Amino acid sequence: MSMNLVVLLYLIASVCFIQALKGLSHPTTSIRGNVFGMTGMAIAILTTAALIVETAGGQARGMVYVLAGLVVGGGVGAYMAKKVEMTKMPELVAFMHSMIGLAAVCIAVAVVAEPWAFGIVARGEGIPGGNRIELALGAFIGAVTFSGSVIAFGKLSGKYKFRLFQGAPVTFAGQHKLNLALGLATAFFIFGFWHSQSWIDIVLVIALGFILGVLIIIPIGGADMPVVVSMLNSYSGWAAAATGFMLSNDLLIVTGALVGSSGAILSYIMCQAMNRNFISVIAGGFGSGAGAPAAKGAAAEPQGEAVPISAAETAELLRDAKSVVIVPGYGMAVAQAQHTVNEITRTLRDKGVNVRFAIHPVAGRMPGHMNVLLAEAKVPYDIVMEMDEINDDFPDTDVAMVIGANDIVNPAAQDDPTSPIAGMPVLEVWKAKNSVVMKRSMASGYAGVDNPLFYKDNNRMLFGDAKKMLDEVLGALKA
Ligand code: TAP
Repeated sequence: MSMNLVVLLYLIASVCFIQALKGLSHPTTSIRGNVFGMTGMAIAILTTAALIVETAGGQARGMVYVLAGLVVGGGVGAYMAKKVEMTKMPELVAFMHSMIGLAAVCIAVAVVAEPWAFGIVARGEGIPGGNRIELALGAFIGAVTFSGSVIAFGKLSGKYKFRLFQGAPVTFAGQHKLNLALGLATAFFIFGFWHSQSWIDIVLVIALGFILGVLIIIPIGGADMPVVVSMLNSYSGWAAAATGFMLSNDLLIVTGALVGSSGAILSYIMCQAMNRNFISVIAGGFGSGAGAPAAKGAAAEPQGEAVPISAAETAELLRDAKSVVIVPGYGMAVAQAQHTVNEITRTLRDKGVNVRFAIHPVAGRMPGHMNVLLAEAKVPYDIVMEMDEINDDFPDTDVAMVIGANDIVNPAAQDDPTSPIAGMPVLEVWKAKNSVVMKRSMASGYAGVDNPLFYKDNNRMLFGDAKKMLDEVLGALKA
């Protein structure tokens, strides 16, 4: 296989990955995006495998191990992706990032052991200086990504007793100074590796990376873990890009840069939508629960009296409405109520009611969480609106139906400058003629703050599991 052909195939794979990212930015094009991603990955793997066989002069006995790894890894990945619940997706992503980080470390170690096997130098020669820096940086970022992702996984799952896996931030005196000292020590050993290509230096760089990964993530509360996962996604991309430079592999450089920059942009968008400062998230100390109410305090206490409503009364309100806006949140995902939501939408539209969905950028627990669920339930895309597209329409809406959402419809974000969520952009459902909030209790949401929406004169509370309540509403609508 000529080098020109390899470059051409890698270029096609890179274009596929760019098209994949573009396609995944909207539900209507997401399937196409996935097909592009899979095609690009297939081209990348096959080209690389052919290259390995050719470089080894047709005696690539190691290919058996590579193929075994592909089958086992691909099988485990496919099984986990099929089995995972939507609410557990951030944990799966954290787990996968840890594997990318570990892969970067393993490649770095293999290159130090036998650089000639990677075509970097002739047998017996040392690794060139520039490549040593790239190798050490790739190994370090990979090690940070691995151990940081393992801690993020533990914090997100919230089911392990181990102290470091608890949602609460783990802090101690002099933490930042220790991190700084370890960072400087790492720079020193990277310099040492550049200078002498010694095993001791690279092993210390990797060990410090593992330690720093843990130390960077433990002071961050479970509540901020989705942002951290997105940030680790970015790190894993940079680790791959550094590995690409080290191996002079253009495809790995492009792919790593795409993952690194898209992860960084996503972290920034998430922080903006939550009105959180990216630096303060990374510095730690905001969220204190693994997706559970964070700051229990005065702000979490009920500040009024809420008026309950029955499913039958809700159905009546909906039937009499001309325009309805549905606001889904984390509770809809927990209750797996999206299919019933779609049924209700269809029933109301058949009756001539204008039904639309209002999606907050951080509704649920991961970017696009609600869009994925609604797409799965086959809700038409053209009635699913972004927050900015629909917020001005609430005053002309007869009924705003909030399904398992809380923080994203909290007026305190606008009205109370002392609220922990002050400044967070929210869906202004209280401006609708009527609003109905569907949830099991008066408990606070993710941010752990009370919601004054519940006590508004035009608001009613439909208490119960979202799926059960919506089934009752649907039954009443069809009766
Ligand atoms: P939340 O504010 O967490 O509120 C969800 C509500 O759903 C809870 O108050 C809960 O009340 C209710 N609920 C839970 N299970 C339910 C069930 N089976 N049936 C009915 N209701 C149920 O969710 P949200 O409004 O979607 O806001 C998202 C929050 O997550 C924001 O604070 C956001 O900043 C944060 N966050 C999001 C992301 C991304 S990327 N999406 C990332 C990090 C953080 P009950 O217990 O009373 O039922």
